[in-house]
Amino acid sequence: MSETSPRVVAIDGPSGSGKSTVARGVAQALDLPVLDTGAIYRSVTLAVLESGVDPDDPKGCAEVAEQARVELEDGSVALDGRDVSGPIRGPEVTAAVSAVSAHPRVREVLVARQRAWVYRHGGGVVEGRDIGTVVFPHATLKVFVTASDEERARRRRLDEEAAGREGAVEEVQVSMARRDALDAGRTASPTAVADDAVVIDTTDRSVEEVVEEIVGRVQRAAAERA
Ligand code: DC
Repeated sequence: MSETSPRVVAIDGPSGSGKSTVARGVAQALDLPVLDTGAIYRSVTLAVLESGVDPDDPKGCAEVAEQARVELEDGSVALDGRDVSGPIRGPEVTAAVSAVSAHPRVREVLVARQRAWVYRHGGGVVEGRDIGTVVFPHATLKVFVTASDEERARRRRLDEEAAGREGAVEEVQVSMARRDALDAGRTASPTAVADDAVVIDTTDRSVEEVVEEIVGRVQRAAAERA
């Protein structure tokens, strides 16, 4: 990417690692828009389930991905013009999203849209699983966020409780571990740490501290490129 390329901060990590919260903080501090790519995979999964397509059917899922119109603006998510911010976080979508997002053609379609979104917005903080490795391999800065299994399960449970869905601790931990294993084990762009990514363990650190570290690193990286 050249000096004139937009500023892109890639934030990858497994579920419950704190990447969404950190991405929002970094975006605000740098006055950049944030793109939650997980919300795009979740929206397509909702469309797959609603159209009766089997999440394991590559062709059917690819067709749904090609046709689905997913719009992300100002923290809300719309699928074909309908606000789906709530339903995409529900248990049905969460259980099927890893299967749908493992299909190479689904990824190809959605990665092209993610790149277009970022270019249209003149840069952004992009969070997901394969942003530093596949979507933006020349990002200004690549971060891979982690946290201990216990802490990730605790955070996920808090999210679920906040959304009025109280599951048993073990249930949350088992479903999270299953999804992480599928996302990291798939053939098409699995969750991975890019060679030149900064790995940040958020287990015992505050959001503010992590955001500050990333913002400092982005500023230094941008200055070095200038
Ligand atoms: O970040 P999240 O938990 O909302 O993501 C939901 C799922 O979407 C995740 O389990 C795998 C998939 N995903 C992906 O395959 N690639 C991305 N860049 C982002 C998410």
